[in-house]
Amino acid sequence: MGDTRDTNGAPGARKKLFIKTYGCQMNVYDSGRMADVLAPLGYAPTDTPDGADMVILNTCHIREKAAEKVFSDLGRIRPLKQAKGDMLVAVAGCVAQAEGAEIMARAPFVDIVLGPQTYHRLPEMVARAARGGKAVLDTEFPTEPKFDHLPAPRADGPTAFLSVQEGCDKFCTFCVVPYTRGAEYSRPTADIVREARGLIASGAREITLLGQNVNAYHGEGASGATWNLARLIRALAEIDGLDRIRYTTSHPRDMDDALIKAHGDVPQLMPFLHLPVQSGSDKILEAMNRGHTRDDFRRIVHKLREARPDMALSSDFIAGYPGETERDFDDTMELINEIGFVQSFSFKYSPRPGTPAALMRPQVPEDVKAARLGLMQQVLDIQLRNFNTACVGRTFDVLLIGTGRYPGQLVGRSPYLQAVHIMADSQHIGAIVPLKIVSVESYSLGAVWAETTAPAISA
Ligand code: SAH
Ligand code: SF4
Ligand code: F3S
Repeated sequence: MGDTRDTNGAPGARKKLFIKTYGCQMNVYDSGRMADVLAPLGYAPTDTPDGADMVILNTCHIREKAAEKVFSDLGRIRPLKQAKGDMLVAVAGCVAQAEGAEIMARAPFVDIVLGPQTYHRLPEMVARAARGGKAVLDTEFPTEPKFDHLPAPRADGPTAFLSVQEGCDKFCTFCVVPYTRGAEYSRPTADIVREARGLIASGAREITLLGQNVNAYHGEGASGATWNLARLIRALAEIDGLDRIRYTTSHPRDMDDALIKAHGDVPQLMPFLHLPVQSGSDKILEAMNRGHTRDDFRRIVHKLREARPDMALSSDFIAGYPGETERDFDDTMELINEIGFVQSFSFKYSPRPGTPAALMRPQVPEDVKAARLGLMQQVLDIQLRNFNTACVGRTFDVLLIGTGRYPGQLVGRSPYLQAVHIMADSQHIGAIVPLKIVSVESYSLGAVWAETTAPAISA
């Protein structure tokens, strides 16, 4: 890699790469991998688009606001490109997949438009774009899996994402993901185990397995057998140095007994699960094509709590799906009150082009959606605060992941994915330590060492 060395001969890059990531964790993972494939070309990450040699917007199409944001951000990048002249601008991710041609028409200064399944081809696209002329568009769903053509990722801290499954065949009526990400694909287990080992060797202690439908995982395991997520998790738990395992995002339909059982007997599996339910009304769940009822969801939660009594749940909710009545909304509120969520993401229904729900009637008026969302968020926020308050006085094993906002402060992650702050030396980053929770801030916890003296710094 002689061409990536600067004039002092030290390893370094000559070109600055700015990546802005919108949307879900899958996009965060993809952005990291795009940086990895561009590194051998001499690109190194920078934190501003100003003066960058290449800007990538890794976009999200899930709701209208997210998609529109891309065009306003492109408006801000245009003068930066005019000022720099040779800046390459690429739009990647789900908006690129869904609206590639529109991006090229609305923002002709964009050099490259690429979908989520083709970024392993970025080096060729960059070479073509750098030659000038026509913009490069690659939003194919190639037959070769991109994972086979990507360099092995390294962890850049004690926590890492590992993509194990992609795409979605479920076609919930409101959702663009099956169109932007394509059909379900599970990576072979051997590749995943290899990637996990590499992440651990480069410093990760906690790995979050990613997939749009991660618990629909059905990858090729040893001797050609198909492995489910439970089996994959059990194999990963055997790896020395992997202290914590999480997975996201799950679908209630794929929450099988084997996976629930793993929560009971794999100690590395954290007692926190994001399990989107969207609505508590059977009528709406059916209209959404979710493939489960409100009672199915309750039963799953019950079984999870039986397997792991300290299991905390998080979920996603949509307010104002077409045809949602006050009664349906009340059903959702009732389910929220019954289950109790320690974290949540809730959204006004956003009609997305090409999805069946966008054409359904009646659509719920904007002000009604907003009012329902407000009520929902009030209750969900109280649940979050109550959970955090109940943590005061308890001692958790916290993985210290980086420096906090204030000098001398570190931030860590509790088993329940809460941010925990402590005054401690940065040499402790990477350690898992028992901390006593002493205070609640808006969305994080304050802690002190659980022992009278700080533990020795772990290697
Ligand atoms: N695969 C996950 C969800 C992925 S999308 C699942 O099946 O649950 C993330 C979240 O965005 C969804 O859970 C849903 O709550 C929200 N969402 C998706 N499409 C939406 C739309 N059209 N309007 C509002 N929220 C939406
Ligand atoms: Fe979208 Fe439904 Fe697939 Fe989740 S399961 S990604 S909500 S279509
Ligand atoms: Fe958005 Fe695509 Fe993720 S639409 S939520 S970035 S899969």
